[in-house]
Amino acid sequence: MLILGIETSCDETGVALYDTLHGLLAHRLHSQMEMHAAYGGVVPELASRDHIRRLLPLLLATLGDARRNLGDIDCIAYTEGPGLGGALLSGASVAAGLGFALDIPVTGIHHLEGHLLSPLLADPKPSFPFIALLVSGGHTQLMQVDRVGSYALLGETVDDAAGEAFDKTATLLGLSYPGGPALARLAEQGNASRFRLPRPMLGSGDLNFSFSGLKTAALMLAKNHADSEFADIAAAFQDAVVEVLVKKSLAALSQTACTRLVVAGGVGANKMLRSQLTQHARARGYEVYYPPLDLCTDNGAMIAFAAALRMEHNILKTGARRDFNIRPRWDLQEYAGENQ
Ligand code: KG4
Ligand code: ZN
Repeated sequence: MLILGIETSCDETGVALYDTLHGLLAHRLHSQMEMHAAYGGVVPELASRDHIRRLLPLLLATLGDARRNLGDIDCIAYTEGPGLGGALLSGASVAAGLGFALDIPVTGIHHLEGHLLSPLLADPKPSFPFIALLVSGGHTQLMQVDRVGSYALLGETVDDAAGEAFDKTATLLGLSYPGGPALARLAEQGNASRFRLPRPMLGSGDLNFSFSGLKTAALMLAKNHADSEFADIAAAFQDAVVEVLVKKSLAALSQTACTRLVVAGGVGANKMLRSQLTQHARARGYEVYYPPLDLCTDNGAMIAFAAALRMEHNILKTGARRDFNIRPRWDLQEYAGENQ
């Protein structure tokens, strides 16, 4: 069974072909980063228009990479939400149109399910149950995943997401959008012990996070120090975020008696987070799993793959051929509830 995955929830157009027998055949990505950089953030209307422009050429190129034709596709999976309304609509309408033309089923997938199942695309892959640390531009959550479709929220951010805090702090340090990776690069040149930033909610006794105060603390440091010291501020910021993410993840593992941790979402590409998590988790006998590096950020492969796993577990829903849906604010718990 050949599944086409389409991801257009934000500023990346992702297309992938996943074969349920042979695995991921090909995937392509177009990042709109450069286009949005001039505005310092994602401009939703520009994002939607660019998805429309890119989708079909990307699909044809991906088919070429996989040496397949349109007629070989058996099912289409697109990101139904959460995300930007217009951007989601671009992917949903292309999926629905193609599904109608090819007379094949179309299914909407939850973007975060795509992220948290993506480590199962790597080798070795985790077995269930596991704890998922989901750290993206829009979300910071700890989830307990007992099986495909069963996602229990253990804790989440009460304000900014970790990626959002990276991006906002990068902007105030004069780095261009999207700042997360740029801040991480700058931090590599800095001395992390020069400044000490707070570790928000570390002692809160729950598994929730808060990152907006950290950004303000970094701003105060930046105001009082010269540009030449910004690498040290970046390093202090990264250190604080990573320590909180690591300690809360370890707490989630110990509270649930799970032994496997899966890290997903864009911030999961952060080298320091990876090395600290791996080091501390291993020291306690836990295993940590990551998606392949190129599948950490948004992509179509995770959407096609989530659909394949849902199909395997008989929980894939396909809509009536001519209707399609988007859910810009779609809670993962609600989605998990639909699987009961
Ligand atoms: O999962 P993703 O591609 O998109 C969302 O669904 O949000 O995550 C993007 C986020 C951005 O905030 C970006 O700055 C952050 O992930 N990010 C990083 C790194 N690479 C991407 N943050 C810190 N270090 C990185 N290396
Ligand atoms: Zn994402």
